[in-house]
Amino acid sequence: MKHLLIIWHSRTGAAESMARAAFEGAREEGEVRRLRAEDASAEDVLAAHGYLFAAPENLASLSGEMKEFFDRCYYPVLGRADGRPYAQMIAAGSDGTNAARQLARIAMGWRLREVQPPMIAVTDAQTPEQILGPKTLDALVLAKCRELGAGMMAGVESGIW
Ligand SMILES: Cc1cc2nc3c(=O)[nH]c(=O)nc-3n(C[C@H](O)[C@H](O)[C@H](O)COP(=O)(O)O)c2cc1C
Repeated sequence: MKHLLIIWHSRTGAAESMARAAFEGAREEGEVRRLRAEDASAEDVLAAHGYLFAAPENLASLSGEMKEFFDRCYYPVLGRADGRPYAQMIAAGSDGTNAARQLARIAMGWRLREVQPPMIAVTDAQTPEQILGPKTLDALVLAKCRELGAGMMAGVESGIW
């Protein structure tokens, strides 16, 4: 059976809640797996039929743990997932575009197909205390993540991409 794989990393909860909301939306439509980046293997990637990646932007790039997942799995997956659909969700204090660009560049290397534009949730955390504190995202943002998960799942299952 075709399934969607959601891979996430989060330090203070924002990207985790985006991944959870997308998972909840997706599981109403079909079979979905959700894995932490550190637990996800190349075999998990190869077994799936579409992907949602969720991670924070840190220091103007993809968070280290998410990058480590790609570093670990990049060559084992290369050339074996061509054309599969993906989308991404980025949690950011104020920007998020560099992380999204970096992830898109990696996904292009895998020849994945971007089927939705990046969803970037800006938390407006400014001070070190706010940046390091737990994050709660707006219900509207989470509803959009839920919709993204449902849409990705429906597309993967029906094979429209
Ligand atoms: C070390 C560090 C670096 C960060 N760098 C950026 C950055 O370059 N751009 C940005 O928009 N937010 C930056 N942030 C803010 C995080 O992206 C933001 O707090 C986000 O909500 C973290 O996601 P998480 O809650 O899933 O861990 C940084 C946070 C930390 C801890």
